[in-house]
Amino acid sequence: MLNLKYGYPLNFQQWLDKNAHLLKPPVGNQQIWKNSDFMVTVLGSNQRTDFHDDPVEEYFYQFKGNAHLLVWDRGQYERVHLKEGDMFLMAPHVIHSPQRPEIDSRCLVIERVRPKGESDALQWSCAKCGTLVRRYEMQLTDIVTDLPPVYDQFYATQEAERVCPSCGEVHPGRDYKSWHATLNATFPNL
Ligand SMILES: [Fe+2]
Repeated sequence: MLNLKYGYPLNFQQWLDKNAHLLKPPVGNQQIWKNSDFMVTVLGSNQRTDFHDDPVEEYFYQFKGNAHLLVWDRGQYERVHLKEGDMFLMAPHVIHSPQRPEIDSRCLVIERVRPKGESDALQWSCAKCGTLVRRYEMQLTDIVTDLPPVYDQFYATQEAERVCPSCGEVHPGRDYKSWHATLNATFPNL
């Protein structure tokens, strides 16, 4: 018997079928192997408005359906499409919001465990003008369980804490539909 820390090869399709119930909104991600230097996750569908600032690279393989990343760069938004079959290697600190409205869309994502002292952040920004509204930094150790408490912290804020410091627009918090509707109305060519 070999001493294989992560076990023998597993069948990817069987893993997907068994975990389909976990690949649903709001975040819809699940890690395959635990306690490895590689964090291998599968992303399903989601509904979110947060942007992720990752101190390490992220590799994406959009193997089923389509998705896109909204990228926030110093107050400007851009859209990076992930079409079925696309691979994408994203540099550290590209501040991105994965958008996967297709219920059956699936993306394989590989990241490294974070070096100690290198923080991740989640941030929310104004759909009207792009200004940063709130940002939370954390030392990430578990890709699946460390993020939901930060969403909850943001969703629990009062309206006054979500007012854009530039234009006065109130970030709608948990109401992702409203935030995206405003973004699409303000930046129709995004
Ligand atoms: Fe604003």
